[in-house]
Amino acid sequence: MNVIWRNYICRLRQGKVPHRCQSGVHPAAPLGSRILTDPAKVFEHNMWDYMQWSKEEEAAARKKVEENSATRVAPEEQVKFENDANKYWNTFYQTHKNKFFKNRNWLLREFPEILPVDQNTKEKVEESSRDQVRSNFSRMQGTEVHCQKSCVSSDPPSKGRSNFSNLDLEEHSKGPGKTERFPGSSATFRILEVGCGAGNSVFPILNTLQNIPGSFLYCCDFAPEAVDLVKVSFSHASYSEAQCSAFIHDVCDDGLAYPFPDGILDVILLVFVLSSIHPDRMQAVVHRLSRLLKPGGMLLFRDHGRYDNAQLRFKKGRCLSENFYVRGDGTRAYFFTKGEIHHMFCEAGLHEKQNLVDHRLQVNRKKQVAMHRVWVQGKFQKPLHWTQRR
Ligand SMILES: C[S@@+](CC[C@H](N)C(=O)[O-])C[C@H]1O[C@@H](n2cnc3c(N)ncnc32)[C@H](O)[C@@H]1O
Repeated sequence: MNVIWRNYICRLRQGKVPHRCQSGVHPAAPLGSRILTDPAKVFEHNMWDYMQWSKEEEAAARKKVEENSATRVAPEEQVKFENDANKYWNTFYQTHKNKFFKNRNWLLREFPEILPVDQNTKEKVEESSRDQVRSNFSRMQGTEVHCQKSCVSSDPPSKGRSNFSNLDLEEHSKGPGKTERFPGSSATFRILEVGCGAGNSVFPILNTLQNIPGSFLYCCDFAPEAVDLVKVSFSHASYSEAQCSAFIHDVCDDGLAYPFPDGILDVILLVFVLSSIHPDRMQAVVHRLSRLLKPGGMLLFRDHGRYDNAQLRFKKGRCLSENFYVRGDGTRAYFFTKGEIHHMFCEAGLHEKQNLVDHRLQVNRKKQVAMHRVWVQGKFQKPLHWTQRR
């Protein structure tokens, strides 16, 4: 491995640089290698790194948000979006199946903590980071596009948000104790992906975990259709029950037990999920998830950032509350600042290891347009002596 690559991967592992990543295709040119110094050259690449807003650009973004937030969705409508949140997502997966989001193949590069740390594994990650980065070299960066057209809930599975009649929920309503047997009880390294959707993160992770004995991946979503899609893919790809378990679970439902005890997870992955939860409920979710981590365990987070183009694109009348919007299909999106993330995760007693704003300029060369993309990414660790603050 040449020195440049070794240094680059080393900095990646230390969390010093965000990788050029987002759902969809992304080029493998190392992040930081495309800095726009001459505005006349903006259409020479598809993506520019480490963009700074000019004062004018920031003011324009703020104005756009003020405008699209001026008219709020009526309170009774808002209640419907909250109570039926899982139905909207369920319909989303009925409509799009697993074709909407692209596989998040960047995950392991960006979050090497997903794998157990031993010398052997470290080498594997570095090797696969390098290979993936190289093999993607000619690809372009995609976007976190989202269905804006209205999708009517044709066949809602049940009346209430957590009322899906499914065996998983009933079976797990109490949850096992630490000494009991549960899926993954004999594993030595356990990961939970929250809001796994159709498995776009699950499968890139499982493909690597397969070679790592003792590892186990749980994944959950409150949309039964999503969990079904994951389970069908599990069976097609002959993943072993000894290594993964998908279950229906609403992370906002505090009274709902997980199919494993608290304090046993090494890693929790929260990728583009918290943004779809009502801001008033986010803190409780982060608290509950923190309880699931073992001391030293990591919560890995990535989501929409404030003034991302996706926020600016919302039309008037889609705003629920400040920086929180509803899409045409009834799913919702919040746009975070890194200060909000710091506050929420630290309030849950976790220690901040990384918290950054990944700000890029995405270029559509064909249409000759450039958009500011903003994501927030964080890594938070549960301390050895964790005190729950609420
Ligand atoms: C934007 S998708 C992201 C899916 C996946 N994490 C990924 O990165 O491709 C958000 C997912 O979060 C799930 N979700 C939203 N609120 C949830 C909740 N309260 N409990 C469990 N899952 C939830 C949705 O059903 C959806 O699958």
